[in-house]
Amino acid sequence: MKFLVVGDVVGKTGVERLEKELPNLIKEKNIDFCIVNGENSANGKGLRIKEYERIKKSGADVITMGNHIYYRKEMATEYIKYRDLLIPANITNLNGNHNVIIERNGKKIGVINLIGKVEMGDIIEKNITDPFKTIIEQVKEVKNKGADYIFLDFHAEATAEKIAMGHYLTGMVTCVFGTHTHVQTADEKIIDYKTAYITDIGMTGPTDSVIGLKKEVALKRFVEGVYAKYECSENKAWLNGIIVTTDDNTNNPIKIERINM
Ligand SMILES: [Fe+2]
Ligand SMILES: [Fe+2]
Repeated sequence: MKFLVVGDVVGKTGVERLEKELPNLIKEKNIDFCIVNGENSANGKGLRIKEYERIKKSGADVITMGNHIYYRKEMATEYIKYRDLLIPANITNLNGNHNVIIERNGKKIGVINLIGKVEMGDIIEKNITDPFKTIIEQVKEVKNKGADYIFLDFHAEATAEKIAMGHYLTGMVTCVFGTHTHVQTADEKIIDYKTAYITDIGMTGPTDSVIGLKKEVALKRFVEGVYAKYECSENKAWLNGIIVTTDDNTNNPIKIERINM
C-alpha cells in the first residue's frame, strides 16, 4: 500500500495549496491512505471545523494535531466528536481521540498522535504524561484492535527526542514521522527493515516566512528583541510530506520518500 503523509498545514495559503495539490497527488501517486497534520491550518494557530472540513475534502483520511490544540477555545468540546481528528495521546487536560483505526483494502490502519516533552513550552509540559510510556499503551491498544499498520505522528521540537522514539518503536510500528519544526529533514530511512522514520516531514505553508510566521514579525522579535503579535504569513506555500510504501505480505515498509513541492 502507499501512504501519503502531509506536514503541518499553515494558514490560508497552506490550506489553499493543499486543496489544489492533494487530490492530484493522491491520484497520480496511487495513494491508498492519507494523513495530514492540521495544527496550524487556522491562520497558523490551531484548527477550526471549517479547516477540518476543507482538509478532509481535499483527501485526508486522518487529521493529526499538536501543541496548538488549545488555541481555538471553541474546539475544546468538538475534538471528541470527530473520530478521524486526533489530538496528542499524552495530553491530559483535553478531551479528544488519541488514535483511530480505519479499514482500507482489507487492512486495518492505525494512526496515533503524540507530543514531545522537550522544549514544547510550559502549557504543554505541565499537561502531558511521558510520551515514551504513553506510546506503549497506545500501540497495545491499536494492536488489540487488529491494526496491520501503525503510523505515529510524533509532534516534537527536539531532533534527538524524535530519533530516540524512532529507535524505541522499531519493529513495533510501521512509521514514526516527526512534525512541529516545519522544516523537512533529509534523514528518511527504514530502520532495521521494520520501521520507516523521518525526523520532520516539513510544512505545507508559506515558504517566504519564518516557519509560517510573517518574516517582518519574526525579525522584530529576534533583531529588535521586542514583543510582536503573531501574524501568519500569506506568502506562496509549498507542500511537504512523505510517501511510505509497504509490502502487503509482510506489512513492513519498503520505501520512504520525501515530497517537496
Ligand atoms: Fe506545526
Ligand atoms: Fe507544533
